Amino acid sequence: MRKRWLIGNWKMHGNLAANKALVDGIRERLPVLSESIDMVLCPALPYVSQMAGLVADTGIMLGAQNASDHLKGAYTGETSPMMLKELGCGFVIIGHSERRSYQGETDGLMGRKALAAIDSGLIPVICVGETAEERDSGRTHEVLGRQLDAAFGYIRTAHDEIIVAYEPRWAIGTGIAATPEIVQAEHAFLRARIAQRDADFAQRLTLLYGGSLKASNAESVFSMPDVDGGLIGSAALNADEFVAIYKALD
Ligand code: G3P
Repeated sequence: MRKRWLIGNWKMHGNLAANKALVDGIRERLPVLSESIDMVLCPALPYVSQMAGLVADTGIMLGAQNASDHLKGAYTGETSPMMLKELGCGFVIIGHSERRSYQGETDGLMGRKALAAIDSGLIPVICVGETAEERDSGRTHEVLGRQLDAAFGYIRTAHDEIIVAYEPRWAIGTGIAATPEIVQAEHAFLRARIAQRDADFAQRLTLLYGGSLKASNAESVFSMPDVDGGLIGSAALNADEFVAIYKALD
């Protein structure tokens, strides 16, 4: 039985006071986390150290939203995954569609970033997803397969721990989540694709859905057999919504 996960991707939101208020709000509503559902919060990079203190001894784990594919060196403005590990992160989101769109991140870079994260002791949350145009033209599986193959070209399935998040780009920030049926179909495709490399690893792999999940639609998506949890954007910034989505995993 795979664990269940809820990961909050705060994106470029927050400040010192709001971050504390949000964590306090989550803890007031969830004084004790479920033993079968893990929670990870991913603040903007400047707040990683503050958040490490806020989540200490709460059971809530810490992640980052990006990291370099290099561990150290002359890479101005970049952040090494080793630095994130030292600051208390256990996870890092890799290849988010907004970074593909705005920073031009490629499939190959995503694979190298995932490997650097693993080599630094972090669990990469590898994002894959198609655009509306790719879905409408019947290319969803071609795109997902290409993105997945690029990441797994670097990952050693024998012992690397990773999380894959299916985030259809047409559902991110739109308020229109994919239907449970679409989510299950794509998660099953992803799991089967990985099983071609390593069947046991594929069965153990955590597959999350991300894209306009909220309290009102989470339960139906989480009821799908190949969905192991969610990667949450805007709803993660509201303690009521985020906790309600967490409880929908139970
Ligand atoms: O990484 C999660 C994020 O992309 C989903 O955003 O606002 O649609 O939940 P949102």
